[in-house]
Amino acid sequence: VNGSGAPPDGTRPDFTPALGYRALTPLYDAAIAALTREHVWRARMVAALDLRAGERVLDVGCGTGSLLLALSAAAPATFLMGVDPDGDVLKRARAKAASADIAFAHGFFDESFIAREGRFDAVVSSLVLHQTPIETKRSLLAGMRRALKGGGRLCLADYGRQTGLMRLLFRASVQALDGVEDTQPNADGVLSELLREAGFKTIVEVEQIRTATGSICIWIARPS
Ligand SMILES: C[S@@+](CC[C@H](N)C(=O)[O-])C[C@H]1O[C@@H](n2cnc3c(N)ncnc32)[C@H](O)[C@@H]1O
Repeated sequence: VNGSGAPPDGTRPDFTPALGYRALTPLYDAAIAALTREHVWRARMVAALDLRAGERVLDVGCGTGSLLLALSAAAPATFLMGVDPDGDVLKRARAKAASADIAFAHGFFDESFIAREGRFDAVVSSLVLHQTPIETKRSLLAGMRRALKGGGRLCLADYGRQTGLMRLLFRASVQALDGVEDTQPNADGVLSELLREAGFKTIVEVEQIRTATGSICIWIARPS
């Protein structure tokens, strides 16, 4: 699938590459595995979602597809789709998912994507919002709410409020790679408020997981 929001070749894409710099993308999976306890938080997301056969699931900013693969292993009878504007990470995702039934869309998650692909029973997104400007955090969350069917749920995992040692580790790792401007609102704890602003009525903080790169928080949010 090629989304209309795909950045045309040769232009500077207005997103931060998965590991901060395009040249580091080949190291992304190894870095996330080594530094974020990904087996813990991805498994917690899969459990919190509790997917049912036949459900449609969208991963916004799916990157190299690791979460979709975990979902596919846990709930093979679901329709799984990932969207990401970065062709490099999608190439890796497609290779990793060669034997799984997962659809990938190249492009930004925006209104035209939602209009084209329809609504989903569950939307997931991991480690995306800390890399985006505050207005993009707002518009992505509002889009995620609009992309949900009535009764659907969003499962979000990202760096949340950082305190004490977690704040120091976050500064030394994530902020060193991704910069301070986009990441600081997360560290200040803005995401719960942004979920409310986006129209989610039931917001549950499922767990906070302490990692070598800061604290990663998992939320389940519902529009009603
Ligand atoms: C740090 S990576 C996380 C990848 C993956 N979700 C994971 O858990 O490993 C952030 C991803 O968000 C993507 N992204 C940034 N802006 C986006 C947008 N507006 N719509 C969809 N994806 C976006 C980037 O291309 C990148 O692949």
